[in-house]
Amino acid sequence: MTNNPEVHTGTFGSMSEADFRKFSEFILHEAGIQLPITKKILLEGRLQKRMRLLKINSFSAYSEYVFSPDGQISELPHMIDAITTNKTEFFRESDHFTYLTKTVLPELKSDRELGDNRRYFVWSAGCSTGEEPYTLAMVLSEYKKKNPAFDFRILATDICNTVLDKARKGIYDVSKTSTVPMALKKDYMLKSRNPEQKIVRMSPDIRMKVKFAWLNFMAHDYQIREKVDIIFCRNVIIYFSKSDQEQVILRFCNQLIPGGYLFLGHSETLTGVNLPLTQVFPTVYRKTT
Ligand SMILES: C[S@@+](CC[C@H](N)C(=O)[O-])C[C@H]1O[C@@H](n2cnc3c(N)ncnc32)[C@H](O)[C@@H]1O
Repeated sequence: MTNNPEVHTGTFGSMSEADFRKFSEFILHEAGIQLPITKKILLEGRLQKRMRLLKINSFSAYSEYVFSPDGQISELPHMIDAITTNKTEFFRESDHFTYLTKTVLPELKSDRELGDNRRYFVWSAGCSTGEEPYTLAMVLSEYKKKNPAFDFRILATDICNTVLDKARKGIYDVSKTSTVPMALKKDYMLKSRNPEQKIVRMSPDIRMKVKFAWLNFMAHDYQIREKVDIIFCRNVIIYFSKSDQEQVILRFCNQLIPGGYLFLGHSETLTGVNLPLTQVFPTVYRKTT
């Protein structure tokens, strides 16, 4: 950054309450993510990484920059990247994937007037570094082996560009694949030719099934052209206020086909919200109309 005269000293001090309020209100409005005052140290830690890179040595100078006309264009996306929580893993909450193939797909198939003549469309909403959509792609590919008429494609979206870049590459440390069954690893994860490199890459077949895109659930006007059969939005809305959760899920409902399914994370519930959904399994909901 060239237009900030402050010299980086390596110490950032503490964020003032006024700056914390400015950041947290903006992040809530822009990304839906709630940051109570108890998260001040967390926010400081995350922003410090950006400040170090930009050689800015106080939170007030960073705040001034990020909310300036220049900063809004060049820094805001990085700030949003820095504050998102991206924890994920292959086969996270694995009973969801069993329920998907044992119950959801047979149910959808029996409801469908067209039989299997249309590809199923699955949306991994808040996909982080790609483990969730690639798990879906592996599980659905296995299902296709036994049901050859079945086909699918997956849209995977996130608000964070850094995780999307990693997800598109589809390269993971071997240590991160311990939750993937051996047979699936063999079929869908390619080892590096260099045995020194403990990494795998998702096979081209699997990567082809997943399309990654940037999308913010808080944008009221986002558009996905087609209706979706199944949405996985797990461990995302836990950070949102009740009213934002309701708005976000209502838009998901509009995107789902009648009878379509919504999977939330295991600690996320929809009690007390008025939505056209019926619970069919722990944290799995079906659109009623
Ligand atoms: C904790 S990860 C969950 C990843 C995956 N769904 C799972 O359960 O393993 C939450 C993801 O939601 C994304 N996210 C947070 N707020 C968002 C928003 N407003 N719009 C879109 N994605 C958002 C974050 O960037 C992050 O990658």
